[in-house]
Amino acid sequence: MKVTLSVIKADIGGFPGHSSMHPALMEIARQELGKQKGKLLIDFKVLHCGDDLELIMTHTKGVDNKLIHKLAWDVFVKGTAEAKKLKLYGAGQDLLKDTFSGNVKGMGPGVAEMEFEERKSEPVMIFMADKTEPGAWNYALYKMFADPFSTAGLVIDPNMHDGFTFEVHDLFEHKKVLLKCPEEIYDLLAFIGQPARYVVKHVFRNSDKMIAASTSTQRLSLLAGRYVGKDDPVMIVRAQSGLPAVGEVLEPFSFPYTVAGWMRGSHHGPFMPVGFDQATPSRFDGPPRVICAGFQLSGGVLEGPCDMLKDVSFDRARKMANEIADYLRRHGPFEPHRLSADEMEYTTLPGVIKKLEKRFRKI
Ligand code: 13P
Ligand code: 13P
Ligand code: MG
Ligand code: MG
Repeated sequence: MKVTLSVIKADIGGFPGHSSMHPALMEIARQELGKQKGKLLIDFKVLHCGDDLELIMTHTKGVDNKLIHKLAWDVFVKGTAEAKKLKLYGAGQDLLKDTFSGNVKGMGPGVAEMEFEERKSEPVMIFMADKTEPGAWNYALYKMFADPFSTAGLVIDPNMHDGFTFEVHDLFEHKKVLLKCPEEIYDLLAFIGQPARYVVKHVFRNSDKMIAASTSTQRLSLLAGRYVGKDDPVMIVRAQSGLPAVGEVLEPFSFPYTVAGWMRGSHHGPFMPVGFDQATPSRFDGPPRVICAGFQLSGGVLEGPCDMLKDVSFDRARKMANEIADYLRRHGPFEPHRLSADEMEYTTLPGVIKKLEKRFRKI
């Protein structure tokens, strides 16, 4: 049986501000998805990362399925009504359209999906982030699937030795390219080192083309043409048996690398790995957070979640992230804490600059 794993998320209102999630919204999501358990859905889980509501669903309908996307959309619409009633902050923030058009892609919510034949044992890691953007997964995916200093299996495991192919999307020009690694790692890095524009969408195993990872790539500002909050992304990664071990999938997050999206979507900050109960970005609306829900799939049933990044082995990464946060914060409005000028075009800053345009004189 082929199982589809769909992770669909949206910010439909923060509590308070952009920091966390009101329990009433989680409850609505659980109730609504619960009505479809055993019908449209095999199983589901509802989580949150900061102010983003995360719907994790299994079914047999394949990716981009209209019924599944409509179900998620309806949950977000119903949740938004409650968020408005409670006057939560930015109620309905990520719902850019009024009516559902068959697929939530392009409507605001983020989507990561994959369909596969369940293996004898099927460990999957679902990553969810807040206060950052889709390109935030680029570094981690490179480490997991292309860097033998991070993933020992690339050297040791004969089933991984042929490497992996990265599907990279150019979010500005709407183009994609497949880059086969290890042969093309330099070419890959030439693009994905610019995560605001080039984003890894899928990773496939070279030996059999099996799908190993899938991410959400929606950029809200590019969809809406204006700043509407950050496109806090999600990612699905399968593990073990010819794929990176669970620990190899998690290893990249032991380093709190720099990502874009902190405070007003306008600042760089360290990507801090945390447990579910610490996914509440507060200092300067951050620093950016990542959580990971680990599952074993069993006939599509989601055994879990295990709170993978809560572990003490990530304590040092959290401490380092706080130190980096101190360092960057002291830059105040200066780059590189503030994003570069071309990225600031998608924030509220151009409004300020426009106001002063007439005051400039030739020199
Ligand atoms: P076990 O021997 O515990 O299955 O571990 C194998 C492995 O690959 C751990 O990284
Ligand atoms: P979100 O994208 O998580 O809503 O955050 C927006 C923001 O401006 C935080 O400072
Ligand atoms: Mg928000
Ligand atoms: Mg958010």
